[in-house]
Amino acid sequence: MTKSQIANFSAERIVKSFGGARALSDVSMSVASGEVHCLAGENGSGKSTLIKVMSGVHAPDSGVIRLSGKELTELSPREAVQEGVQVIFQDFSLLPNLSVAENIALPNRIVNQTRLVSKRDTKRIASEALALIGVEMDIDTPVGEISIAQKQLIAIARATNLGAKLLFMDEPTTALTRKEINRLFSVVGQLKKRGVATVFVSHKIDEIQEICSTITVLRNGEVVAEGPMKKFTSKSISKAMTGQDVSTTRIAPKLKRSKKIVLEIKNLCSKHTFEDISIKVAFGEILGITGLLGSGRTELAEAIFGKYPIDSGEIYVEGKKIQLNSSPAALASGIGYVPPDRLTQGLFLEQSILRNLVAVGIDSYRTGVGTLSQRRLSGVGEKWITDLRIKTKNPYNPVTSLSGGNQQRVVLAKWLAMDPHLMILNGPTVGVDVGSKREILEIIKERATKGMSFLVVSDDIPELIQICHRVLVIKNGRISKEFGESQLKESILYKELN
Ligand SMILES: Nc1ncnc2c1ncn2[C@@H]1O[C@H](COP(=O)(O)OP(=O)(O)OP(=O)(O)O)[C@@H](O)[C@H]1O
Ligand SMILES: [Mg+2]
Repeated sequence: MTKSQIANFSAERIVKSFGGARALSDVSMSVASGEVHCLAGENGSGKSTLIKVMSGVHAPDSGVIRLSGKELTELSPREAVQEGVQVIFQDFSLLPNLSVAENIALPNRIVNQTRLVSKRDTKRIASEALALIGVEMDIDTPVGEISIAQKQLIAIARATNLGAKLLFMDEPTTALTRKEINRLFSVVGQLKKRGVATVFVSHKIDEIQEICSTITVLRNGEVVAEGPMKKFTSKSISKAMTGQDVSTTRIAPKLKRSKKIVLEIKNLCSKHTFEDISIKVAFGEILGITGLLGSGRTELAEAIFGKYPIDSGEIYVEGKKIQLNSSPAALASGIGYVPPDRLTQGLFLEQSILRNLVAVGIDSYRTGVGTLSQRRLSGVGEKWITDLRIKTKNPYNPVTSLSGGNQQRVVLAKWLAMDPHLMILNGPTVGVDVGSKREILEIIKERATKGMSFLVVSDDIPELIQICHRVLVIKNGRISKEFGESQLKESILYKELN
């Protein structure tokens, strides 16, 4: 008996192409009930595609899917649900106008085509589903009003209510803080106890080592490594993913002698969020900002870009005072902002890759008569595709045809193309694989060497240490400490954070 026949769920020798491009070649993976299995691989290696094949979204060109003993060569999304396959996608597919209770309870009615039930039943079903995964929350709140972490828990409750036996979580932790991740992990623990098989996708290697007991690594659509997690180290996982050793040494460029200040913030306050923040960023300097959940770090980053209200204080760019609370004013003075949530904030999803690449700096590509030069546009776009190694066969394809991590690069390129004086990167490598992460840090380094200044907001301490000249820690809306180059060590920074 082969391993996949013992396992409760498996994909065998799956092949899947899009157009002429192979996304999966001969991929097999098997997962047992009660197992938490990691599916790892670089951006574009085929993880999401495999999930879509196993959940009936994409039909494979060839190969077999086995679900609880049934062998299937064709699988509709509906059959997948009936066999207990559930996927938690990045956008969670929740309905913002409906309450928490309705979001959890109603899909089950729809799938089973039963009559709509009373409000009371809806609430009961939702409460039971939440209790099963050990989560408490107000079920009457509209989903549009709650945090990402809570939406995720609701999506999980909904999946369990739909009878999940095999649950795929495609990068569930990218938008979560450490505390929220702990909570998610305890929910995964509950599912495990109840015999649910979980397939977990994440680019954070420490996370997958913490939660998963087995792993399958994809590279270019092929399985390159698999087995029990304890046979792997973080180094061997990175190496399997990228095919090479990934360096994590410091690469921050030497700071220029010139003390020219590009950004100066004086006593910035936003009621109940942050207070008395004063920061200076020099020409070519990379300043890191970190802090825990609710520290105010993201709000501060948004406020500097005019996206979060400021009550008092001043901001100067290259010595000129800028108008507060206005993103157009921030943009015009040379501040760029890359948001962490690329899927909802950073991209025009229905547009082509090329269009997205040149979206921000569009005015600078206008020709004398005010029309866009198509040639110029594609020239610039293609340069970015090469520079940032965006993996695509055709830049005219919609940006949604790119893998998640490649979409993230498009957002970054779009802002770099504007050549701002100061770039605020909020979670610059969220959802990006280890190899590409290093590449993105190299790009930041190269830009900084040419004089671009950076504010890097991140909770990824190793990343901040690799790239920053200084790191500020925010606690309770205030700068609690500043760490200079010689103090940038993991132990020191983690100590200040806890
Ligand atoms: N609908 C589609 N049309 C065309 N190509 C696609 C489509 N979906 C995926 N691809 C291509 O298939 C390959 C695998 O993509 P996939 O989304 O599975 O990668 P991934 O491993 O999930 O990456 P990431 O970590 O960036 O999310 C990529 O080259 C991608 O561009
Ligand atoms: Mg993906």
